[in-house]
Amino acid sequence: MTNVDVSITVNGEVRQASVEPRTLLVHFLRDELELTGTHVGCDTSQCGACTVHLDGNAVKSCTLFAVQAQGRAVTTIEGIGSIGDLHPLQTGFWEEHGLQCGFCTPGMIMSSAELLKTNPDPSDKEIRDALAGNFCRCTGYHNIVKAVQHAAHAMAEGKAQPAAADD
Ligand code: FES
Ligand code: FES
Repeated sequence: MTNVDVSITVNGEVRQASVEPRTLLVHFLRDELELTGTHVGCDTSQCGACTVHLDGNAVKSCTLFAVQAQGRAVTTIEGIGSIGDLHPLQTGFWEEHGLQCGFCTPGMIMSSAELLKTNPDPSDKEIRDALAGNFCRCTGYHNIVKAVQHAAHAMAEGKAQPAAADD
């Protein structure tokens, strides 16, 4: 199969590569760029562990080819905050014990970030609806909702500002 050149801005940095046209975006991120925070948790596009932002919108990176991101901006969990400057959602998951194994957490955070961008004061039901496409097999979701509320309150009080690379 003939490779195709792609140029994609990932976490604010232009990344260029030659990929097979069938390469999924999630495999490009994990295997080519070694950004392994984006996970693969299913083969049915249901679990949401692979969620990233494409031009600022949450997408399941297992449902897109890398070539579809040509010339566009992708943000992964590695680009939304840093160890020294956590995104409010990362702080929220930490403070509210919103994870156990952490496998689903990157996708949860990327989906929640999109929710808070459009709805900064969501109800518990709105959070659960927004995360309907993200499965967690450990926590039972209660603390995940509390984590998102924690972030929403912190952002509303101006204690923390999100630092997404795609904003
Ligand atoms: S790996 Fe993409 S939805 Fe499960
Ligand atoms: S914390 Fe383990 S799958 Fe969600």
